[in-house]
Amino acid sequence: MIISGGPSSVYDAGSPSIDPRLLASGVPVLGICYGQQLMAHLLGGSVQKGEHGEYGFAQLELKQADTIFRGIESPQQVWMSHRDLVAEPPEGFSVLGRTATCAIAAMGAPSRRLYAVQFHPEVAHTPCGRTILANFLFDICGCERDWNPAGQIASLENQIRAIAAGRNVFFFVSGGVDSTVAYTLCLRALGPNRVHGTYVDTGLMREGETDFVRESFAKLTDGSTHSFAVEDAGSRFLTALEGLTDPEQKRHAIGEQFVEVQERILESEHFFDTHWILGQGTIYPDTIESGGTAKADVIKTHHNRVAGIQKLIQEGRIIEPLSSFYKDEVRAIGRELGIAPELLDRHPFPGPGLAIRCLCSDTEGAVDTIEEGWVLPVRSVGVQGDSRTYRAALALAGFPESEEAAASLINRLHGINRVVVAVWTAAALGELRLRRATLTRERIERLRRADAIVRRISNQQGFDHAVWQFPVVLIPVGTETAPDSVVLRPIQSVDGMTANAVRMSPEQLCEIVGGLKAVEGIAGVFYDLTNKPPATIEWE
Ligand code: XMP
Repeated sequence: MIISGGPSSVYDAGSPSIDPRLLASGVPVLGICYGQQLMAHLLGGSVQKGEHGEYGFAQLELKQADTIFRGIESPQQVWMSHRDLVAEPPEGFSVLGRTATCAIAAMGAPSRRLYAVQFHPEVAHTPCGRTILANFLFDICGCERDWNPAGQIASLENQIRAIAAGRNVFFFVSGGVDSTVAYTLCLRALGPNRVHGTYVDTGLMREGETDFVRESFAKLTDGSTHSFAVEDAGSRFLTALEGLTDPEQKRHAIGEQFVEVQERILESEHFFDTHWILGQGTIYPDTIESGGTAKADVIKTHHNRVAGIQKLIQEGRIIEPLSSFYKDEVRAIGRELGIAPELLDRHPFPGPGLAIRCLCSDTEGAVDTIEEGWVLPVRSVGVQGDSRTYRAALALAGFPESEEAAASLINRLHGINRVVVAVWTAAALGELRLRRATLTRERIERLRRADAIVRRISNQQGFDHAVWQFPVVLIPVGTETAPDSVVLRPIQSVDGMTANAVRMSPEQLCEIVGGLKAVEGIAGVFYDLTNKPPATIEWE
């Protein structure tokens, strides 16, 4: 049993608890953070209320390594995030580890198979965390390493056949990993005559994307013409976006078009008929997020609610074969199914496509100079204290020494939520201007070309394998003859919820800037240094 962390204090009325008899039942227990405090509290130790808490890295010194710490050297970096602390362990417990500020960072009563840690072994910031969890599971609990997602394929296919129960399955596929793997599983389970996928080409895709998806699906379906179709909806999306400049209005217009196109396909292809059910590539984190974000501020409007699809879901006419898997497991299943690595290892790409990477403006404006740098008058979306911000970006003349510099500038300067470096500009930075701009074919094409160049070069460099996502953004800041600039936004992330800006080497950057100078209409190249939070990954 693992008792997890949480924001409560054991002294709060109504804080989560367990039946104390569980701790005497002989079942191995690992308490993490609040779980350690709860264990101490229930077994007669003492918990001290913390005023300020401790958030961040700490060095763990091990006092006893032959337990859940087997094979781990001392000291070790661990991640702390807590207010309260265990002040005194329960009787019969030994202190297994400490940090400079936390005398009981780990404790245990090995003969009773009870262990607890104050830090978080489950996060990436605790590099030895996986070993700790593995020691607990395999040495202490006696679990076996027999979970193999790729080995589940036969049983997944059986489940699909059982749920489909003679009916056919249709998908709206995006070309992304999840929907492709889910579609392929259904194809294997039911055969090409009973599975259909439609891909909506919004005209807002990256260069070569639609051809790539068409070819990939042709391979998956052995060229079967009725199991896959492309719906070319480019001009209606562009028409709907005409003249819009506000990010949320753009997202809304795109969402509406998706709804209309999908509703029309549902009708015209007779997918409402009872012999069809809807397939979706929902994965496990999607199901957690949709339950866990009910109170969150709307930072960006994501997915479209298609009434017809809601109806199918309500009627239970839905199949989600990947709903209990994590992303890396979905990739493993995809590999086992023989899906090409180019498809499985792709970076995530947002549904609204290049539209939210092509910024627009209904005003003109000058680039202001302040003590800290230049203020680019173009606004982008951020998230601070769980609320949305929409503010200007600060441009610096060169890369700052430290990673924290960007964050501290944003904390200090109220009107900005991003910090970028001006890597190259065709004219002096102060001479560039914010220009009136909307989503025209010409600007989308300009961004598409810039994005393709960055993608090609960073792929050759191996840099794009080193990052989680690499958005390329077009901002309407430039000169009379070259009205736009490009922003490079490579980030590292686990799930997109938080992200760190990643720097590339000067040589790599130089090569990319060289490539971008060849794009017509580009007056500058900027490099985004901002983490999420306070900025979001995409600019809109
Ligand atoms: P933000 O910009 O909110 O992005 O920090 C987090 C991750 O979500 C992706 N993203 C989207 N994906 N539909 C999607 O399917 C959307 O509307 C959308 N907006 C952002 C973004 O690319 C990043 O990976």
